[in-house]
Amino acid sequence: MEFQYKDKRPLSEIRDDILKASRAAPDIPHHFARGLVITGDNCDVMLSLLKNFQGKIDLIYTDPPFNTQSSFYRGEGRVSTISPARSDRVAYSDSMPLEDYLEFMRIRLCLMQLLLSERGSLYLHIDSRVGPYLRIIMDEVFGMDNFINDISRVKCNPKNFGRAGYGNQKDVIYFYARNREKVIFNSVTEPYSAADLDRLFKKKDSRGRRYTTVPCHAPGETSGETGGLFRGMPPPTGRHWRYAPRVLEDMDDRGLIEWSKTGVPRIIKYASDSSGKKMQDVWLNFKDPPYPCYPTEKNAEMLETIIRQSSYEDSLVLDPFAGSGSLLRAAMISGRRFIGIDSSPEAIKVMKERPELRDQEFREFPAEARQKQ
Ligand SMILES: C[S@@+](CC[C@H](N)C(=O)[O-])C[C@H]1O[C@@H](n2cnc3c(N)ncnc32)[C@H](O)[C@@H]1O
Repeated sequence: MEFQYKDKRPLSEIRDDILKASRAAPDIPHHFARGLVITGDNCDVMLSLLKNFQGKIDLIYTDPPFNTQSSFYRGEGRVSTISPARSDRVAYSDSMPLEDYLEFMRIRLCLMQLLLSERGSLYLHIDSRVGPYLRIIMDEVFGMDNFINDISRVKCNPKNFGRAGYGNQKDVIYFYARNREKVIFNSVTEPYSAADLDRLFKKKDSRGRRYTTVPCHAPGETSGETGGLFRGMPPPTGRHWRYAPRVLEDMDDRGLIEWSKTGVPRIIKYASDSSGKKMQDVWLNFKDPPYPCYPTEKNAEMLETIIRQSSYEDSLVLDPFAGSGSLLRAAMISGRRFIGIDSSPEAIKVMKERPELRDQEFREFPAEARQKQ
């Protein structure tokens, strides 16, 4: 099976060229305290970063242009795509023939894959129009086995445009590991909603605390400790106790076992002891800000969640299409070191205005050192 388009280069040729060009690329000083923001084309900058950071980055979040065939503007106090004011400045333009766009992204995805550590992962934020093509390219670059999730993110409230077709309320995030077996995943949970609590913790104790119960036993017989007697009872046929009988007896003494009228014990689980529910691949609560400081600025809580989920405190994170620096700000707040890249002077201006980023190091990539890729 092959995905072909005009002027698509073999992956091995792109990788060889990257490694060659990286050796000739200028050095980017790699000592910085918390954060480094570089103005320049991210292909040139990542070629330089490879010299010191190949295999060293634990998390890349990337939100590239979606090839919308439009331009994004920014003026004083407002951002716009469809009706810019005469005084607005172009933040970035987003228009390429589809084949050129796919090659542009393919080279950059190869660079990102080389920068990722063995425990690292990449989140690519994209729309459902060009997303499926990039998904195939990511399978080629990362390997299908390293695909983890395709997340649907509700980005805005319902719209009521008159066009034939359904309203577009979502975009997608592809989540890939450099190495699926070693990837950082911290099992961050999300809080229960009131409806979840009603559904999952139906009972209340004498102090009004919400709880539910689960069986004291699990499938599989054993002749070991968990196959013994709990309060004189063996586990049901074909099953074993979840904990050693002495542990269950201790829980019973502490009021953590509920006995039915027919003498069946169940373990009590309080809602207040639960860290929340497992996150799913449909994200409903991370809509983008209604009054962004930069066009296409992404939801801050979503980015903080991604950082907590897929990096450690000692991790270095990268956003090669940093825009307003929303990911970099989330990294700063979460105590991670970070590198951001953007080619737009408007984006750099917004990042320098953010209180959390203003004291970080800002550098220009030397224009004379541009590589042809
Ligand atoms: C969709 S926006 C990113 C928005 C960002 N996630 C935020 O929350 O503000 C894409 C960004 O990529 C930048 N960009 C486009 N092509 C680039 C390139 N070749 N190198 C570096 N940045 C680029 C644009 O200037 C723009 O700021």
